[in-house]
Amino acid sequence: MTDEPVADRGSDPGAERLILLLVGAVGAGKGTQASILSRELGLVHLASGNLFRAALAKGTPLGEAARGYMEAGELVPDELTIAMFMEELARPHAAAGAILDGFPRTVGQATALDETLAAKGERIRRVLYIEVPTEILIRRVAGRWVCPRCSTPYHEDTDPPKVAGQCDRDGVALRQRDDDRPEVVRARLDKQVPPMLAVIDHYEVAGIVDRLDGTKPIEGVTEAIRGRIGARAAS
Ligand code: AP5
Repeated sequence: MTDEPVADRGSDPGAERLILLLVGAVGAGKGTQASILSRELGLVHLASGNLFRAALAKGTPLGEAARGYMEAGELVPDELTIAMFMEELARPHAAAGAILDGFPRTVGQATALDETLAAKGERIRRVLYIEVPTEILIRRVAGRWVCPRCSTPYHEDTDPPKVAGQCDRDGVALRQRDDDRPEVVRARLDKQVPPMLAVIDHYEVAGIVDRLDGTKPIEGVTEAIRGRIGARAAS
């Protein structure tokens, strides 16, 4: 592990891409933090859940293949997920680096990602693990509203939009997610937390995991992340 600010190393145009992972259970705040940090750092926000939802909305074969798993709160199989995500990571929009949200979520996905990056002399800089107790997660997801166009999440109590029911960024009417029904949220926690913890163990071995108290207000979590990744992230 190094104390060198991660974000400062990412500012050198000749340097390797800055790749950060945001890890946490359903509703931990990965999307919220990724949305803020991607704008501050000028990095693309790649969210596997958003990619699957976009494929579903377009009715692509990938979306149709993922539908049943998502509706049941299960992980989409690695062979579909890895191919989709690696394609996104190779696109020009990730040339400066990326904030990964929701991928990797199994050790198989983590190994595939590590190998793909290593083949290009790259690596994951930090794994930011947002920890939140289950009862808080369930309350957060119950009050979540999301922009169907840009995927920005809001919360009716803790992070409301400026105009009720409308996205601050593009004015589109906010919606609730189909998989935020309480029974699906329970399934997502039961089935997806154990493989997520195995991913944390995988990266603990490399000494690159930062554990963050995700029960703080949104700005407090952002501040803690800025502190971990370096001065360039400060607004
Ligand atoms: P995905 O969309 O990734 O869902 P998830 O991981 O369950 O995470 P969420 O998007 O629900 O939560 P979040 O942590 O982003 O929280 P948010 O910031 O919105 O995946 C959906 C499905 O796709 C999966 O179930 C699976 O089927 C499939 N899938 C996706 N990736 C996969 C993969 N790699 N492999 C296989 N299958 C995959 O915040 C939640 C709410 O809390 C918001 O209302 C927000 O405003 C509020 N909030 C956030 N932070 C705070 C805070 N600090 N204080 C108070 N409120 C807060």
